[in-house]
Amino acid sequence: MAELEGLEFGKSDFVLLDEVTMEQFMDNLKLRFEKGRIYTFIGEVVVSVNPYKHLDIYGKEVIEDYRGRELYENPPHLFAVADAAYKAMKRRAKDTCIVISGESGAGKTEASKYIMQYIAAITNPNQRAEVESVKNVLLKSNCVLEAFGNAKTNRNDNSSRFGKYMDINFNFNGDPTGGHINNYLLEKSRVVQQQDGERNFHSFYQVLRGGSDELLKSLYLQRDPAEYAYTSQGASASNNDSLCHKAVMAALKVIGFTTEEISSIYKILSTILHLGNLQFTSDGEHVVLVGEDTVKHISELTSTEPENTRKALLYRTVATGGGEVIEKGHNEQEASYGRDAFAKALYERLFAWIVGRINSVIEVKDYNPALHGKNTVIGVLDIYGFEIFDNNSFEQFCINYCNEKLQQLFIELILRQEQDEYQREGITWQHIEYFNNQIIVDLVEQPHKGIISILDEACLTAGKVTDTVCLDSMNKKLGQHPHYTSRKLCPGDKTMEFNRDFRIRHYAGDVTYSVEGFLDKNKDPLFQDFKRLMYNSSDHVLKEMWPDGKMSITEVTKRPLTAATLFKNSIIALVDKLACKEPYYVRCIKPNEVKSPLLFDDGRCQHQVAYLGLLENVRVRRAGFAYRQPYARFLQRYKMTCEYTWPNHLMSTDQEAVEAIVNQHGFEDDVAYGHTKLFVRTPRTLFTLEQERAALIPILVLFLQKVWRGALARMRCRKIRAIYTIMAHYKCYKVKAHFWEVERRFANVRNMADYGKSVEWPTPPAALMQFHRITQHLHRRWWARQLIKNIPPSDMAEVRAKVAALSALSGERVDWGYSRAWERDYLANVSFSLGYSFRTLTLHIFTLIRHIKVYQYSQVLFSCSVRMLNWFNNTKDRALLITDKHIYRLEPKKHFKVQKRISLDTVVGVSVTSGSDQMVALHTASQDDILVHLQRGQLNPNQDRVGELVGSLTDHFTRVKNTPLPVKVCSTAFQVHMSGKPKSITVETKPSQTAADFKKSRTGFTLLLPHQ
Ligand SMILES: Nc1ncnc2c1ncn2[C@@H]1O[C@H](COP(=O)(O)OP(=O)(O)OP(=O)(O)O)[C@@H](O)[C@H]1O
Ligand SMILES: [Mg+2]
Repeated sequence: MAELEGLEFGKSDFVLLDEVTMEQFMDNLKLRFEKGRIYTFIGEVVVSVNPYKHLDIYGKEVIEDYRGRELYENPPHLFAVADAAYKAMKRRAKDTCIVISGESGAGKTEASKYIMQYIAAITNPNQRAEVESVKNVLLKSNCVLEAFGNAKTNRNDNSSRFGKYMDINFNFNGDPTGGHINNYLLEKSRVVQQQDGERNFHSFYQVLRGGSDELLKSLYLQRDPAEYAYTSQGASASNNDSLCHKAVMAALKVIGFTTEEISSIYKILSTILHLGNLQFTSDGEHVVLVGEDTVKHISELTSTEPENTRKALLYRTVATGGGEVIEKGHNEQEASYGRDAFAKALYERLFAWIVGRINSVIEVKDYNPALHGKNTVIGVLDIYGFEIFDNNSFEQFCINYCNEKLQQLFIELILRQEQDEYQREGITWQHIEYFNNQIIVDLVEQPHKGIISILDEACLTAGKVTDTVCLDSMNKKLGQHPHYTSRKLCPGDKTMEFNRDFRIRHYAGDVTYSVEGFLDKNKDPLFQDFKRLMYNSSDHVLKEMWPDGKMSITEVTKRPLTAATLFKNSIIALVDKLACKEPYYVRCIKPNEVKSPLLFDDGRCQHQVAYLGLLENVRVRRAGFAYRQPYARFLQRYKMTCEYTWPNHLMSTDQEAVEAIVNQHGFEDDVAYGHTKLFVRTPRTLFTLEQERAALIPILVLFLQKVWRGALARMRCRKIRAIYTIMAHYKCYKVKAHFWEVERRFANVRNMADYGKSVEWPTPPAALMQFHRITQHLHRRWWARQLIKNIPPSDMAEVRAKVAALSALSGERVDWGYSRAWERDYLANVSFSLGYSFRTLTLHIFTLIRHIKVYQYSQVLFSCSVRMLNWFNNTKDRALLITDKHIYRLEPKKHFKVQKRISLDTVVGVSVTSGSDQMVALHTASQDDILVHLQRGQLNPNQDRVGELVGSLTDHFTRVKNTPLPVKVCSTAFQVHMSGKPKSITVETKPSQTAADFKKSRTGFTLLLPHQ
């Protein structure tokens, strides 16, 4: 948003003046002009002062500042009005119009162009090609219309010499879809004559200065405006003609003029220039043409027969009463008059044709209201302002009449509508005295009595009716009118000439008109011969411009409407068009006569302020209410500024809620409550509310963000919860499904032979892994329990020993004899025999005795014949007896005499090999280890007893002594200590070996095994 102006720039709205006086108004206008603030509001009206210098206030950023904003949100600007008109059109589907008025050089055309640029910039965000093309043609049409319709005058270097009203059509999207241009009263007299210091229309100079050599050659033209009678007057002044010519050519092409059409346009321009140079002289009897070549060029350029052209210039065909046709030669004066009238008409029709051609391009095509929605319109009126010159003629009369009509419209729309609305809403209307200029409008346009009627009547009257006769007639008919006077009616007033001047008291001031030329300009005669000549041209474009040339000479033609009547009709049509639209006004003021950016001519400006009725405008605005809004909309916009209305009010009606807002801010005295709308007197009130709103918006945005984020988070949370619920149910189902499956598979294990050992466990869900392990374990334990339960107690020792051996050897020893029954006490076994059968009895006896001795206190863990090393490291057959208390070495040959006994407590470990040999080392704490090779007897040569020994010992140690006995299974050599010395014991197989035996080796001993 653009920054609002500080008070050093004066008041941005005249409504805010302390007092509505001309003095204060002018002071504010001047201050703002001097500070470079050329725009000021009167409510929704923009007053614009021509800065006469480039201002950097029309760029893209500024456009963005105004886009979609309310009037009071930004400093006054044309864009604010353009946006208001566009918004009203788009939001409320209202046709709107922007009326730009002011005197010549006040900046109307520039303003209309900026407005169009603004509308073009803010529309068609999607860059749709067809809309872009319409916009392009609309913008480019300005360039062409200015070339052909504008001229340098003493008041403005680029003065529009025609009135222009352009409708821009919009679709329901608010994008321009087409348009239509209406042109009013082109000042065609300029074609043949200009005042000192002025120029003809730009187009002539542009083609002469900017046209290519070939073009000029083909048109028989020389590159010098001074060469041509119609352009010689302003030949010295240049308005960038050459550059402009190129721009116009480009614009013509963009709009869609064909090469043929462009060529015809330039042929017509050159025809006019050549016509201007035609001279007539008299040969005594007849009028003759000087310069036949020129005629030839004209006929070639207009594609007509030279003879016909010559005739049309010198003669006029008249139909006599009896249907006869005669040719009447012109006198010199008539010929020159006819030539000029022809030149003017050529140009006027060319201009009208160009406008029509542009219209044919931009007219809305294929429009279907049912399909495309309401087709809305913004009209832009750039029309001549009120004119008072030293010498005011027919044109000024028309222009000032037009301004009277527009003022009427202004009164109608602004004052009456305002009044109507107040009545509708039940608001007391404070009557404002304003001058209703209807009386002046009537003076000009009333049938039978009005000036235009009197003029038309005079034109119709046969015979020589002069301007003076016409003036007399006006004096007679209008002598009583309070706004009409003349020297005859007011003989003492020397500011008027007798028989020449009349004065109208316009709403904007008195204007004295000279009646000279009124009748001729009103009649605007053009010999029919020219019309026929042009209609018969073989140039289609030219022919098209002269349809009325079709009529034959003898056809009784109705007199064409006069210029004043035509103008009146077009202005009435224009006013009708504007009256049905919502109006927006731009009132342009020209600060000085010398085009200076610094000079503010108080007198001139005051005059303009007066005749534009700006003070009245301010009064109406102040007397009334500057702004009004339906309650609902007001509430919607400002409800956040009041605690009772935010976020929603609890009152019974919106009006009450609006009252709460107004009261909270203390604006009671500045508002009135209508039936449906709130009326706000000063913009300041609205502005204060706007500022408060703007300050609250960021907080509201944060609040909304917070609420929305909360809503989003809650939504997410609900989803996550749902997900977890689904997951929980699914997990529960999976768990249950696993239980059911386990139950199903294991239901019958008690009756199975293997108690379910072979039953495959189902894969558990991750959550049940631990449970799975525990149940598996439980099952195994139960299963083991089932097996163990059936083992007789006598076998339990063996089972325990086997279990102990299994874990002690941990699968490292190939064979450990688990599949057979373990006898353990092999020395006591009856099958024990080493060929001492005769001694068996003795042995038994001995054993018995020993048992008595030994078993009395202890239990045999293991006994067996062994091959072992004796004290001197010789190998001997001995018997090994291990009880729960001691280890005995017995001499079998000496009745198993105890050779050595060591306490079982000294045993600290066992070493065995992983092979199938029967070597066992019992490590002792005293480092005097027992190394034995277990003998298996002849009956059981392959019996493994190592596992049995290891199992018995480790079971005893863990279960009874409660200390684990480390068991080492070595794959190659193992280490022992003998008498404290370390020895390495290896195992070898030797083919010659008959029985296993130890042999000394370098590092210790080697157990030699027979080859099997
Ligand atoms: N907003 C502006 N910024 C800069 N210069 C401007 C502005 N408005 C007008 N002018 C200058 O004033 C000149 C006259 O303006 P413009 O042609 O718009 O006047 P006008 O009211 O259309 O006059 P006329 O009735 O003669 O056509 C422009 O050529 C330009 O030099
Ligand atoms: Mg203009």
